Amino acid sequence: PNTKPALPFPFNLRVLMFGWKTLFLSSAPLPVGSQGQSPAWLRGQYLGNVMGHCAECHTPRGMFGQMQKDRWLQGGTLSLFTAPGITAEALAARGWTREGMAQFLQTGFSAHGSAFDEMHEVIANSTRYLTAEDMTALSTFLLGDNPPAPQPLPAAAPPDSGTGNSAGNGAGNGAGTLDAARGHYMALCASCHGSEGLGRSLTMPPLKGNSTVRQADARNLVLAILVGLPKHPATQQGPTPLPGMPGFMQELTDGEVAALANYTRTALGGQPADVTAAQVADLRSAAGKSGHKAAP
Ligand code: HEC
Ligand code: HEC
Repeated sequence: PNTKPALPFPFNLRVLMFGWKTLFLSSAPLPVGSQGQSPAWLRGQYLGNVMGHCAECHTPRGMFGQMQKDRWLQGGTLSLFTAPGITAEALAARGWTREGMAQFLQTGFSAHGSAFDEMHEVIANSTRYLTAEDMTALSTFLLGDNPPAPQPLPAAAPPDSGTGNSAGNGAGNGAGTLDAARGHYMALCASCHGSEGLGRSLTMPPLKGNSTVRQADARNLVLAILVGLPKHPATQQGPTPLPGMPGFMQELTDGEVAALANYTRTALGGQPADVTAAQVADLRSAAGKSGHKAAP
């Protein structure tokens, strides 16, 4: 049976939707983030845009909560973690292939990384139940009939790349800070993710070339370090059980987290060292407000 809406006053007054609908409801076809016209792509369009409503989280929103249709699937932040851009271009820039995508949406684990936060729920409650044919359709829709070439991981960026101004905010790119950050990586991360970031088993995702580490926006990387990620039990058709990851918000200062994130980005993700202590401080307080404590 359908559930009764539990919206508080005044949101439970349906008539108020009238204005919003006049502004934003349109019967024009929804945009897409890839090119295609094969039967598989068209089926995937239905699964992704309609049934899976992937865009609800992965599209940025405007002032009135409307999806910004000209930025379809370009990434959105509804809660603490961000849902990164998943247009064909954005995915290829982080190295995704169709096969890797199908594996990710089936098991929550792939060579590109693991699913966490709300994406884990999407997989556990929904996409893992897709038939093989529908899974092919959805990954064809995400990457397109002719997927853009997956970008290889850029060579490790030199530690002083990027804006370089993070030093002034206490994150520091200087050799001393880099050594300290490498030391933190070895002491706090390597036991699970490996000293070269290659992962350790089927349940410890590699960080080298990891899609979260390759994102231009370091938000999810910094948040994972601060609050950790909860463990997930095994389920029948996948997802793979994930043992979870501790958070380090008590152990590390904002500057240390920024330096560690910059070490991870440059050494393992080909990204610039542009995370500042001020950004970490903002995310620390956002995590606190949303009730996240460092996972034990
Ligand atoms: C006790 C083992 C453990 C330690 C220690 C650990 N991690 Fe993790 N980490 C995990 C597991 C397991 C996952 C996958 C969790 C999930 O997807 O739900 C993960 C996921 C991640 C992710 C998201 C990866 C993805 O696939 O998208 C990042 C980024 C990350 N860890 C960075 C770090 C950093 C940096 C450190 C050191 C500060 C660290 N981890 C320490 C076990 C660990
Ligand atoms: C309820 C919000 C929500 C919905 C709905 C949602 N996602 Fe996500 N998605 C996220 C969040 C948050 C992340 C970041 C965590 C992670 O990387 O696992 C994410 C991550 C991803 C990633 C990994 C990207 C990367 O580079 O690491 C892919 C691929 C993805 N989503 C595809 C989809 C598809 C396909 C659908 C529709 C079937 C979908 N998502 C629906 C919230 C959502």
